[in-house]
This record gives sequence, structure tokens and C-alpha cells, in this order.
Amino acid sequence: MGSRETKPVVASREPLFRPFTVKSLTLRNRIVMSPMGQGHAKGGIPDPNYPAYYRRRAEGEVGLIISGATAVPHPSAHMDLNEPHFHGDEPLAGWKRAIDEVHAAGGKMIPQLWHSGLHGLAHVPPTWDLHGPSGVWFPGPQADGSAGPSELRGEPMTQAEIEAIVEAFGRAAETARCLGFDGVEVHAGHGFLIDQFFWDRTNLRTDCYGGTLRDRTRFAVEILQEIRRRVGPEFPIFMRISQFKMMDYTARLADTPQHLAEFLEPLADAGVDLFDCSLRRFQQPAFDGSRLNLAGWVKKLTGKPTLCCGGVGLGAGSVDFGDPDAYNATASASLSELDSLCEMLERGDFDLVSLARAILGDAAWPAKVRQGREHELKPFTADLMMSLS
Ligand SMILES: Cc1cc2nc3c(=O)[nH]c(=O)nc-3n(C[C@H](O)[C@H](O)[C@H](O)COP(=O)(O)O)c2cc1C
Repeated sequence: MGSRETKPVVASREPLFRPFTVKSLTLRNRIVMSPMGQGHAKGGIPDPNYPAYYRRRAEGEVGLIISGATAVPHPSAHMDLNEPHFHGDEPLAGWKRAIDEVHAAGGKMIPQLWHSGLHGLAHVPPTWDLHGPSGVWFPGPQADGSAGPSELRGEPMTQAEIEAIVEAFGRAAETARCLGFDGVEVHAGHGFLIDQFFWDRTNLRTDCYGGTLRDRTRFAVEILQEIRRRVGPEFPIFMRISQFKMMDYTARLADTPQHLAEFLEPLADAGVDLFDCSLRRFQQPAFDGSRLNLAGWVKKLTGKPTLCCGGVGLGAGSVDFGDPDAYNATASASLSELDSLCEMLERGDFDLVSLARAILGDAAWPAKVRQGREHELKPFTADLMMSLS
């Protein structure tokens, strides 16, 4: 590995290749493999091809790999029957093989811990109990990107259910540390369970878990505190957040920087070390009249390092979670925006950048960009969406 890295970095791409440290985690560069849940886990057991799939990205010089969403140890956490679990002997043996392979190739990796909440409804009929803050669900997105009409599905979560899921996140994080992972990411975006608590359309509670945006962070705060209690002060905790929801691309948690600050403060205080700000296009400003994107604003408001993503190394078009053809439409490898990305990193707007589809297209994306071999990059194509190649 060392010999592959001896060639100097192409000067214009240098901001992508500076080392970065957060708590006990030091990365060789700023390039992250974005979390991608691709199924291939019958009964929750990761397919035997996962370790080599992740290892190839580590060999391709990805600084940090974030696993696809993996279900915390609670019977309602997973969304369908093919998503990997982060509990049970066989799934954990699979994850252990993955982290060992990544480390052997000089890489770093953290699992994305996840509870899907009422998203299980996207895969009807669910054969397990669904949990959401108020039992309110929105199908979508519709053609204009917004959610469909609300549906009431089930009862609001009880206090006992809330406590059990808080405990499940803590247990999963402790497991991650014991298996040798380099940190954890809590998935609190995209309209999954934690985000269902954040969002006023899915959280109609009148107890201490509902109310203002700040009040609606309480469930996440309890999860973060439980994780921190179990993993100690130095183990890095990332949290993924997003304004948009998979069922409503037009949704926004915060309309002003002040509103965003009210949301972030309790999360930062509870132990987030780095905010992974999920964007569909990294250039998208967070607020009118500002050049900063969400990751820029979150860093400015909290002082914490941030990560952003959205369309890096791809042609025009935004990620559309519900429409494989839309992924296909953005298939071409495009590097025209890498200059502006590097400028944003150089300015310190945010600290890390993640790639999803481009890194599916070419596992050696970082190595090729570092060496000025951009013309050799293999483009993303729709058939790679669910592939472990
Ligand atoms: C196949 C696939 C699976 C994904 N699964 C997840 C996931 O498990 N968790 C998550 O937070 N985001 C997931 N995403 C979203 C990506 O992490 C990323 O935010 C999005 O694709 C935008 O990045 P890109 O433009 O580089 O593809 C997934 C994306 C793809 C393409």
C-alpha cells in the first residue's frame, strides 16, 4: 500500500488528500465511501462478498468507509428481510470479517447504525411490528418531490419502546467497538426513525419527545448519551442528518440558521463528534443568500467537523431513492465540479466529502484522482446499484 501512495498528489486535488483526525480516528485523506444499504443479507446475515467489496474500496485508497445502514438489535429496526443486522452471531461474524479485511488493506470503517421506523411500510406487508413516534406515515415522494397524504399506521411508541430502542443503539455501538470498528455513525436522516422524531409532520407527540424542534431532538439525545456512556470519550460518533426525507424531498427541518442552531446544539452537547450532512447535490446552499451548504452551516454553528455528499464525480442530476432510472440518468462520470469541491475544502467550509454512486462505479476513485488518472475512471451505471463488485 505504501508504495502505491508514493506518487505525489496532483496539486489541484491536494485538499482532498490531507489527513484528518477526529477523536481516536485518523484518516489518510478526506474521501469517504457514503453509506449504501444494498440488501444482500438474507435473514440479516451480510453476504460473504461484503468483506472483499469493502476491501477493494480500502485498497482504492478511500479514507473512510461507512457501511450501509445496518439494523440495531431491536425486532422492529429493519426495513425489509434483506438488510444486514448488527446483532446475532452470524451477522456479527460477517461484519467482523469486513472490518478485518478493511484494516488489512490499510483502511478505516464505521458501521451506520439504523432503525427504519415506519419505513418498513415501504415494503408492505411487513411481518414485524412497526415503530414510529406517532404512528403517522407519509408515502412518497410524489412527482413534485413532496410527500403524499398522511396515513395513520399504528400507535405512538410507548415509553418502554423508546427506552428499548435507545438501549439497542447503545448496545450496537458497544458491539462495533468490540469488533474493532473505528467509530460509529448514527443514521438520523432521510426520514428514518430518529428523523421521524425530528420532523414535525411525523412527530405529533405531546410528551417530552414532542414539541419544538429542540424538544424533538430528545430521543436522539438519549441515544447519543447511551452510546457515549458505553463507548467512552475517545470513540468517534458520527451522526447523519438531512433536511430532506426519502418520502419528501421538499421537507426542511430548519428554515433559518437560528432554527438550525437550536436543533444542533443539544445533539452536539450530547456527544456528536462529526455531522454527516446528507445532500442530494453538494453545491446546494442551505439558506437563501448564503454560499454555504448544510455541512458548511453545521460546521459554522457547532464548531464540529462535518462531512457532505451529493453528486461528487457524477453528471447532473440528484439522487432519487425511489427511482432506479433516475440513478441511471446520472450515470456519467463527471469531474467538472471537483475544482469547486476542492475550493470548498480548502476554505474549510467542511472537512470530509463522501461518494456513493461514483465509488460503486470505480473502487479506485481516490487513487486515480490522487495520481491524476481521472481519464481512467470507470463511470457509475445503474446495474451497479445493488452490485457488490
Ligand atoms: C445503492 C444506494 C444505497 C444507499 N443506502 C444508503 C444507506 O443505507 N444509508 C444512507 O444514509 N444513505 C444511503 N444512500 C445514500 C447515499 O449515501 C448518498 O447520500 C447519496 O447516494 C448521494 O450520494 P451520491 O450522489 O454520491 O450517490 C444510498 C445510496 C445508494 C446509491
